[in-house]
Amino acid sequence: MSHYLVTGGAGFIGSNFVRSVVDGTDHKVTVLDKLTYAGRRASLDDLPENRVRLVVGDITDAELVGSLVADADVVVHFAAESHNDNSLNDPSPFIDTNLVGTFTLLEACRRHGVRYHHISTDEVYGDLELDDPERFHETTPYNPSSPYSSTKAGSDLLVRAWVRSFGVEATISNCSNNYGPRQHVEKFIPRQITNLIDGVHPKLYGAGLNVRDWIHVDDHNAAVLRIIEAGRIGETYLIGADGEMNNKDVVEMILRLMGHPADAYDHVNDRPGHDLRYAIDSTKLRTELGWTPTYTAFEAGLAATIDWYRANEGWWRPMKEATEAKYARTGQ
Ligand code: NAD
Ligand code: DAU
Repeated sequence: MSHYLVTGGAGFIGSNFVRSVVDGTDHKVTVLDKLTYAGRRASLDDLPENRVRLVVGDITDAELVGSLVADADVVVHFAAESHNDNSLNDPSPFIDTNLVGTFTLLEACRRHGVRYHHISTDEVYGDLELDDPERFHETTPYNPSSPYSSTKAGSDLLVRAWVRSFGVEATISNCSNNYGPRQHVEKFIPRQITNLIDGVHPKLYGAGLNVRDWIHVDDHNAAVLRIIEAGRIGETYLIGADGEMNNKDVVEMILRLMGHPADAYDHVNDRPGHDLRYAIDSTKLRTELGWTPTYTAFEAGLAATIDWYRANEGWWRPMKEATEAKYARTGQ
């Protein structure tokens, strides 16, 4: 039995990770989360109190982080400012949380000799042409496009330096676009599902030809657990489930699954600097650690996600109006 400190455990991927730990292991979890606009206490409701504790606080608070890390066996670092569009409107919290926050956690792990796993994104590699036969792999050069992805790239490089210079026992994973329950309604898939529930057309940036490589959040988290168990210290693992699809096709699938005509969407302003395509080659994770995705049928996973949002309006409704008001200001 180990004690995991999970930062950002009240967010989308982190809260699903805590559920995977509770269901699949006997580990105890302390969640450190600031409960920003993206963090929801409700995402941890119904979890056993003797296994999961929530500490509300900031990962840049060195004193608090030091005391929590001292008590942990493993730190799993999900906390981040995670939304590209927000980073284009105001990059400042991305610098604080993604860079200074990661630095603060690394320093605490160094001081207390605690194992660290760093959650990162495929966006650190920039983007690919639509017809490029290449996919991202562990040695692809970093080339981030947005304030969000550049701060994630910077945080990855801090981890590599702390491994090499200070011997911190760390691993890194870079995953593609996640979908599933408890994702904030600012993100592409939940935004369109909740728009349709509200009788509003889905909103497609530009022509909708940008490609994302979709993976179910539980598959991502199973890979993270596997890397913590068996990954080699100092290594990076790419996580992806061969789920490439363009945004227009995803919107059309959501419309069909929710009983609407496939062309009942609006084109809105494109995202400045919008990355064209992400694609992950996860051969290393699969061959070295034996991980394979469970949710291989995207349409079935999407249908289950739609069901979750239909059944859990109380979870997302409080965030919807403010999110759409923000998008209205940029014509998106
Ligand atoms: P999210 O925005 O849903 O959740 C982020 C969580 O971090 C929230 O609970 C928030 O309250 C917390 N947080 C933010 N700033 C904090 C601070 N200073 N101190 C403490 N807590 C703070 O994000 P997500 O989509 O769940 O992403 C989680 C991680 O996974 C991020 O590191 C992100 O870069 C990475 N990632 C996300 C995806 C994706 O598709 N969503 C894909 C690959 C990697
Ligand atoms: O690739 C991993 C990344 O995936 C993570 O690192 C990020 O934290 C996560 O937010 C996600 O980034 P994206 O920018 O790809 O996700 P987002 O949901 O914002 O958008 C997905 C695609 O859909 C992107 O091409 C923009 C487009 N889009 C988005 C919204 C919100 C639309 O066409 N319409 C929309 O309303």
